[in-house]
Amino acid sequence: MAYPYRHPSEVQLLSKHFGEPEARTLQGWVERGGYQALRKALGMSPADIVTEVKNSGLRGRGGAGFPTGMKWSFMPKKEPGKPHFLVCNADESEPGTFKDRELMRWTPHALIEGCLIGAHAIHAEHAYIYIRGEFFEAAQIMARAIEEAYAAGYIGRNIFGSGIDLDLTLHIGAGAYICGEETGLLNSLEGRRGEPRVKPPFPAIAGAFRYPTAVNNVESLIAAAQVVLNGAEWYKQYGTEKSVGTKLFCVSGHVKRPGNYEMPLGFNFKEFIYDVCGGTPTGKPVKAVIPGGSSVPILKADELDIGMDYESMAAAGTMLGCGSVIVMDEGVNVVKQVRRMVDFYAHESCGQCTPCREGTAWSSKILRRIEMGRGAPEDLDTLLQISDNMSGKTICVLSDAAAAPIVSSIQKFRDDYLALMQAGQLAGAGVR
Ligand SMILES: Cc1cc2nc3c(=O)[nH]c(=O)nc-3n(C[C@H](O)[C@H](O)[C@H](O)COP(=O)(O)O)c2cc1C
Ligand code: SF4
Repeated sequence: MAYPYRHPSEVQLLSKHFGEPEARTLQGWVERGGYQALRKALGMSPADIVTEVKNSGLRGRGGAGFPTGMKWSFMPKKEPGKPHFLVCNADESEPGTFKDRELMRWTPHALIEGCLIGAHAIHAEHAYIYIRGEFFEAAQIMARAIEEAYAAGYIGRNIFGSGIDLDLTLHIGAGAYICGEETGLLNSLEGRRGEPRVKPPFPAIAGAFRYPTAVNNVESLIAAAQVVLNGAEWYKQYGTEKSVGTKLFCVSGHVKRPGNYEMPLGFNFKEFIYDVCGGTPTGKPVKAVIPGGSSVPILKADELDIGMDYESMAAAGTMLGCGSVIVMDEGVNVVKQVRRMVDFYAHESCGQCTPCREGTAWSSKILRRIEMGRGAPEDLDTLLQISDNMSGKTICVLSDAAAAPIVSSIQKFRDDYLALMQAGQLAGAGVR
């Protein structure tokens, strides 16, 4: 199957040039209409850019869905001698997520434009892209594009004769999930341990190097550039009233056509899995779906007839998150998948908070024991108790994220736990 697979239901605003290597070069990008958004933005006042993005209803695509324009409007008034920073979060380590990598691999100049427009909007003169350490290829492509844009005068002093100076630095992380959490990221950027900070103060007040900072996801910044170029009303034609625009969904697991799909928000989730992604390759029915990355509650097969938007997902008791869809067919025992996710969180916990450090480690051990057939029904109560202690009580939400799949799997797939326990008991009694 040629890359990228396209489906007629997609609306390709951000992913239009995926699969076109020429779009990676400055010339190729300009030929495709690139840098018009930056030119336009540099002719606008920062306040007008913020208003346009605010009016578009664009919500951050990094997971929490916080409105991008509103985040920018929280930046304090610029004071002399007090720099502002824009930091692009390109850490993308959430299991199941691979959209930002593709945006950077195919359209690096789109991200450069997004970063520079965002920086101008918040009165920053310096933007950083914090990219995940393992993204060697994407980092090389980004570095080459930044070099080319500097050489052409598209980054640096007096860009396009506007009198505006903007710098952009690519910072390569060392491969830690927790450095995707915005304050862990900022510490890592400063050369400190990548541990999340206690908030407040929030980054808008004390961010990078303790100066006012906006942290935005890769997809959010590229979408914001399109809003600036085409206007808020244009963007609002896509999606739903409250979940505006398109979103990249990364699909993995048991589907015939895994990959990235750019869908208008609100598209029917069931249709997406069965039609756009082709359903399961084995023909077995779908059993469970994680709709927004490993950190969100799991949905059962009979809960999929909902819109792919922030509100519909919340009404179904889960989250759109960063749009990473993991599909599991009837052949899967959900406990094993949850145990693998919890192992990941136990490994990635920075260890500052006891409920997270201890909770992830103990949950992982109990889940492994159940998986090996040595569990007992009371283990499920213990897991739920630990999960409760892990939720809403820590410095960042990694702890809550680790608890979410445990709780939802016990609530919805209890039979999978009991089956493993029963199989273990029978094996222990010598029954096969
Ligand atoms: C443990 C953890 C990991 C995160 N990883 C990422 C990430 O890889 N990329 C990202 O954009 N946001 C990530 N976030 C969310 C960021 O903290 C932040 O909300 C986001 O970068 C803001 O950008 P947005 O407003 O454009 O969504 C993570 C949050 C947590 C708690
Ligand atoms: S919740 Fe976990 S990852 Fe987040 S700060 Fe606390 S220990 Fe670190």
